[in-house]
Amino acid sequence: MLPFHKAVEADFAAVNQLIIEQLHSNVGLVENIGHYLVEAGGKRLRPLLVLLTANALNYPARGKQHLDLAAIIEFIHTATLLHDDVVDISNMRRGRPTANAKWGNAPSVLVGDFLYSRAFQMMVAIGSMEIMQILSDTTNTISEGEVQQLVNAKDPTVSEANYLEVIYKKTGALFEAACDTAAVLADATAEQRQALKRYGYHLGLAFQLIDDALDYEGDAETLGKNVGDDLAEGKPTLPLIQAMAQGTAEESALIADAIREGALDQLQAVVAIVQRTGALQYTTDSAKEQADLAIAQLEHLPDSPYRQAMTELAHFAVGRDH
Ligand code: IPE
Ligand code: IPE
Ligand code: MG
Ligand code: MG
Ligand code: MG
Repeated sequence: MLPFHKAVEADFAAVNQLIIEQLHSNVGLVENIGHYLVEAGGKRLRPLLVLLTANALNYPARGKQHLDLAAIIEFIHTATLLHDDVVDISNMRRGRPTANAKWGNAPSVLVGDFLYSRAFQMMVAIGSMEIMQILSDTTNTISEGEVQQLVNAKDPTVSEANYLEVIYKKTGALFEAACDTAAVLADATAEQRQALKRYGYHLGLAFQLIDDALDYEGDAETLGKNVGDDLAEGKPTLPLIQAMAQGTAEESALIADAIREGALDQLQAVVAIVQRTGALQYTTDSAKEQADLAIAQLEHLPDSPYRQAMTELAHFAVGRDH
């Protein structure tokens, strides 16, 4: 448990319990794969955002649906991970072999669909058209972002603006929706809702920027997933886009070739260049800027241990090694 979970410890335990309960299926393989991934843990940052937002707005005095909403958001996230590891051909996640490595692509895709649809079943039970609207738009945006990223693969000419659009869609949108839906549930004022939505937006960007830096400088054991997966797929992420902009002609050409190839044979050379050109630092600095923008939004909320935890979470998103 990370320190900022403390503020909502009891709610967090209840959500973890709910997640396990809601995995139920009469089909054994669905439950096996679901439990395998869920029991491996994960940081549970998105459900935590729901809990912190709801508590910051004093919702738990009025209801319990923030627990369901938190579980829903984690199911959507878990579904995207199942699909993501298939499309990224990744074989390690949360410190274990990925579901696709263990069971194959077909069961991973299908159980991902199960989790998506379970999330929507649970949403119906919440009974808010507004929350339904936000989350159906969000899952649609995530899918679009993943497809855009696929189109960008092996293309070294992708711009920073295009990259930012992709990371917003594939990652930022769900962070934003976690805060926004919890704000709706808690009857936030228009000003609070806007601030929380922006907090989630900037936090999500910071989070993915660091994820993309860690793919070059992280440690696989600490991360619980392999490094170099992005290069293996020829993904033009910010560390590479910036290194091509700042490097010598020779360095830029090496990186462009590595992106076009989508192979790991030049990983060492690429890592050396992203370090030498300051591209990793640039990526981390961009994440820090986003986290600061996120934190600034919190001024629109009353001070509370929950708001404090949201500040700490934003610092963690930048300083993290996993
Ligand atoms: C991984 O998300 C996918 C990205 C958006 C980078 P997390 O790093 O939050 O994954 P878990 O849930 O903690 O494993
Ligand atoms: C994850 O992006 C985005 C989604 C799951 C939609 P990545 O592909 O970078 O995530 P990791 O690094 O595999 O966790
Ligand atoms: Mg991936
Ligand atoms: Mg991916
Ligand atoms: Mg990644």
